[in-house]
Amino acid sequence: MNFDNETRLKEIAVSSPAAAQILEQAGVDYCCGGGRSLHDGCADAGVSVQEILARLSAGGEQAGPEDGDWISAPLGELTEHIRQKHHGYVREAIPRVNALLEKGKAKHGARHPEITAIEGLFHRLGLEMMAHMQKEEMILFPYIERLERSRNGGATLERPFFQSVRNPIQMMMNEHDAAGNLAKQIRKASSEYAPPADACASFQRLYSQLHEFEADLHQHVHLENNILFPRAVEMENEGR
Ligand SMILES: [Fe+2]
Ligand SMILES: [Fe+2]
Repeated sequence: MNFDNETRLKEIAVSSPAAAQILEQAGVDYCCGGGRSLHDGCADAGVSVQEILARLSAGGEQAGPEDGDWISAPLGELTEHIRQKHHGYVREAIPRVNALLEKGKAKHGARHPEITAIEGLFHRLGLEMMAHMQKEEMILFPYIERLERSRNGGATLERPFFQSVRNPIQMMMNEHDAAGNLAKQIRKASSEYAPPADACASFQRLYSQLHEFEADLHQHVHLENNILFPRAVEMENEGR
């Protein structure tokens, strides 16, 4: 696939998992900001478009960390993958990171007030993500799965209380923006996850786990915003 200045970031991220990984590593926002052009995304991240294009043509076709062909796999497999891999990770990571934040604040809070700021931000992010994932798992994902079964000739589909799949999707995308903004604030408060020179091992672990949490959030939102949601809207439209 050929990319240029004007290619939208979500098209690049969807082209292969490795391409999404190249954007992730360069700090270019391809999930919440996926509707923007490569040029604008690179300008925001302060990276060169030419360099990203060179990396994409060198390695963008290889397999990446998000295995599976989610452009054509059944939607029910994709929702299950998101539940297992990303929702599972978030639920496991939140208490682990909270414990490190508490420990870090007790030991270093006096000299490093940024830990208290990060704790407040992460606490909000954790609460918002838990409520968000529950809505996806209770309402949106089961509807998408029923939609797919009915398209495959299975159960009949009643019109949902939310009328169209577009409505909960819009709500979930707004919540993704809010979560993405909190993650950006954590990145800033932690000086891009760079621990201070006097940081002990658990302080360093805290920052690397926060960084990992952000990277997982980006992959998670990418799978939903750029692949699952547009495919669900298309499937709903086909049946009307
Ligand atoms: Fe999700
Ligand atoms: Fe989501």
